[in-house]
Amino acid sequence: MTSKTVSASRVTVTLFAQPEHANFHGTMHGGHIVKLADEAGAMAAMRHARNSVVTVFIDSMTFDRPVRMGHILHFHAEVSYVGRTSIETWVQVLAENPLSGTTEATNSAYFVYVAVDENGKPVPVPSLELETPEEEARFMAGKKRQEYRLKARG
Ligand SMILES: CC(C)(COP(=O)(O)OP(=O)(O)OC[C@H]1O[C@@H](n2cnc3c(N)ncnc32)[C@H](O)[C@@H]1OP(=O)(O)O)[C@@H](O)C(=O)NCCC(=O)NCCS
Repeated sequence: MTSKTVSASRVTVTLFAQPEHANFHGTMHGGHIVKLADEAGAMAAMRHARNSVVTVFIDSMTFDRPVRMGHILHFHAEVSYVGRTSIETWVQVLAENPLSGTTEATNSAYFVYVAVDENGKPVPVPSLELETPEEEARFMAGKKRQEYRLKARG
């Protein structure tokens, strides 16, 4: 199977933080941020695999700052590590104040997907062609994260 670069599947999803997704504090509900981040990660994983994927693990989700209504949210997702059938993506969320133009990082997480066939059985994915020292470092760290997850699974 051929390899693919990180940039070939990188994705950015941009949308408004809408009032219907507000929590009791008037900021964006954390669960909705997780859903959107999962979708952005899945897009990058599907682009890499050119196959259906399912989420198998959500790792290290951070909520560093609240997301205010009316701000523009950017979900940046890229493949950080691949195994034989699994794909780890790194998703970073940035919130942009549309009036001032200031942008701040609000959330980040690693999402692990598995490419599956029509029967839900795992299928192989392309390997990852690493082009920068940052991509190499993230891949090596991803290998360790995945080993840790599988050890914890037992
Ligand atoms: C994902 C799923 C198909 C994996 O099935 P499985 O029988 O565990 O398959 P395998 O043991 O062959 O593992 C397949 C891959 O998943 C990885 N994996 C399995 N459990 C994992 C976990 N807890 N964390 C990280 N990776 C995991 C394995 O390491 C393997 O990757 P590799 O081929 O790159 O080494 C199955 O667990 C499933 O269908 N889960 C439900 C998914 C779902 O409904 N998601 C929400 C909706 S999208």
